[in-house]
Amino acid sequence: MRCFAAIPLNEAIRRALREVQQGLDLPGVKVRWVPDDQMHLTLKFLGETTDDQVVPISRALDELAAGTPAFTLRARGMGCFPPHGTPRVIWVGIEDPDAALNELHQRVETALAELGFPPERRRFRPHLTLGRVKRDPQKAVFPAVDGVAEFDGGDFAADRLILYASQLHRSGAEHTPLHHAAFSG
Ligand code: 2AM
Repeated sequence: MRCFAAIPLNEAIRRALREVQQGLDLPGVKVRWVPDDQMHLTLKFLGETTDDQVVPISRALDELAAGTPAFTLRARGMGCFPPHGTPRVIWVGIEDPDAALNELHQRVETALAELGFPPERRRFRPHLTLGRVKRDPQKAVFPAVDGVAEFDGGDFAADRLILYASQLHRSGAEHTPLHHAAFSG
């Protein structure tokens, strides 16, 4: 199975993200929107993971969570990946004023590297994926996203890590929580 570790989002922030999804003016664009009950902040994509790796991964996340106090993030700004050319992903940005998320990300990378998951070589760019662009024949995505580039979804608490299994279906991805590691530092 494909697994990833992510911070879940509360109902208020998911509502704000749903509203900004619905408010985008995207004539002719085909987007696969992320359903709001699946929105999350990915810290580490593990990729293919075997059943017998789930317990050690869960233990490593528990250990990290036990040393991590809950912290506050802000959902702010909107953009696309890649930032020029053909847009693939529409995202909302994350402000991490105390660098707590960045620090946690580094600790997750280190702990999971010990379990055989190589660290990501690309810079960590925390984001909330709103949707994946399938077709944009009229080049409407960039102007629409630029129009709400200052989006501010407000603060939210980062209070746990969840290990998810992700199954890909024709209709989209389905994420099943395998383990919760609540921050209690
Ligand atoms: P994304 O939101 O930017 O697409 C489940 O697929 C989660 O893992 C998503 O949040 C996705 O990020 C993230 N992820 C990171 N690297 C990935 C990869 N190589 N393939 C698929 N998903 C990846």
